[in-house]
Amino acid sequence: MPDKPLLEQIREAAPLISVGILTADLMSLGSELKLMDTAGVKLLHVDVMDGCFCPMMTVGPGFIKAVKTPLLKDIHLMIEDPLNKLESYVAAGADMITVHVESCRHIHRVLQKLGQMTNANDSRGILRGIALNPGTPLDVITPLIDELEMAFLLAVNPGWGGQKFIPSTEGRLSRLRQMLDEAKKEILVGIDGGITRDNIADVARMDVDIIVTGSAVFDGKTPLENAKFMIDAVNDAAGK
Ligand code: DX5
Ligand code: ZN
Repeated sequence: MPDKPLLEQIREAAPLISVGILTADLMSLGSELKLMDTAGVKLLHVDVMDGCFCPMMTVGPGFIKAVKTPLLKDIHLMIEDPLNKLESYVAAGADMITVHVESCRHIHRVLQKLGQMTNANDSRGILRGIALNPGTPLDVITPLIDELEMAFLLAVNPGWGGQKFIPSTEGRLSRLRQMLDEAKKEILVGIDGGITRDNIADVARMDVDIIVTGSAVFDGKTPLENAKFMIDAVNDAAGK
């Protein structure tokens, strides 16, 4: 992507898919990521789970650092108490770090601290995101709005790929958009979870900037074709 501030790059390119690797074949991840690059995917979504914030355990900073890819590293922290763990994800080359509002007492401090950190890849900064579980009221975002570049609504309960999209997410998304418009804040809005070939066009029409999709790309045998399908569906829906 061109050498502009990250936020500007993504805003100009939105809506974009961010491909989740939770269900990718980790034994051939290098070649699968090359296919994503070929397909035109720009964002790599890594679900970090500690088995405490949500039931599953997945990967950590060492894995993220080891992944060599031109895709931007979109790190979704589903971990308890992220405050003192941020440095290791930043050092691992995260370009975007999203923390859960439900994961700690002092979420405003977490975002403030993240806002003082620099991108290990270069000077393009780190985008700070907040993620809300499906049961969390949207109003929690209001006091955080000055410490954010992204806001994600989970369309599934965190912990697994391949779950069903929770329909109430659509109404939550339009209310979130309204809140951000009223606050005159240009924050990127994302949806994460349950987005497949069947609903991606509908989701892309929900005025969303970042669409996280994992199993729809990596389940089955044709990740390249799946990724192209998802990108085309988003571009068509957005009239790009
Ligand atoms: C769920 C994760 C999502 C999920 C997306 O806890 O945050 O990113 O892995 O996977 P799919 O697209 O399969 O729902
Ligand atoms: Zn995620």
